[in-house]
Amino acid sequence: MSNQNGNYNADVLQARKPQHGVNPLFVNRWSTRAFQPYTLSQQELYAILEAGQYAPSANNFQPWRFFIAATEEEKSLFQSFIMPRNLIWSQHASAYILLASDSLTAEGKEYGMHAFDTGAAWQAMALQANMLGLSTRAMGGFDKAAAKEKLAMPASLHPQIVIAVGKPGSLEQLDESFHEANKPTPRKPLDELIMPYRVK
Ligand SMILES: Cc1cc2nc3c(=O)[nH]c(=O)nc-3n(C[C@H](O)[C@H](O)[C@H](O)COP(=O)(O)O)c2cc1C
Repeated sequence: MSNQNGNYNADVLQARKPQHGVNPLFVNRWSTRAFQPYTLSQQELYAILEAGQYAPSANNFQPWRFFIAATEEEKSLFQSFIMPRNLIWSQHASAYILLASDSLTAEGKEYGMHAFDTGAAWQAMALQANMLGLSTRAMGGFDKAAAKEKLAMPASLHPQIVIAVGKPGSLEQLDESFHEANKPTPRKPLDELIMPYRVK
């Protein structure tokens, strides 16, 4: 199946059934846990960060903040607060990016949309990684208090996710307990997402 912008990958079409011409970019992205040994270039890393930088936000507050772990030393610091189950597979990723959001504006006012906006940055980063032939998997499974302390975050910063970034690998490179689940996930049909309402 294809649309004017390219092809849907055959492996994702096992689980995903796009029907309205959505760009394959959105459908082909999925979060592998299998990574091959690969050193991320600075250019790749910064292209991913730059995609986040250009996300939209309320009032253009841009509340997303990035903490990067690319060296072995930095990665092992991050691994100290990542949950054990996530560590099994994510230790093989090339880099981690912790995405935090700032709940205070530059004027020191509370800003309620910080987490929502940072989600937009995450999606942009994930898609940019895919366009580079890389893969990302977000993790909420980490000790947020420990991350905040170890990375010396100011009080207004809220750790949201740690993103594992790398070059997708094969199942041989992944712990067996994850083999079954390591495939594109399905989605709810649009009918369940579009909510009916009555115009009175
Ligand atoms: C906020 C957030 C937290 C997540 N936490 C974890 C996690 O701790 N461990 C994990 O393996 N996957 C985690 N995921 C990955 C999701 O399970 C995955 O994105 C979802 O099943 C949809 O699959 P897809 O990304 O392949 O389309 C997380 C994703 C998001 C967006």
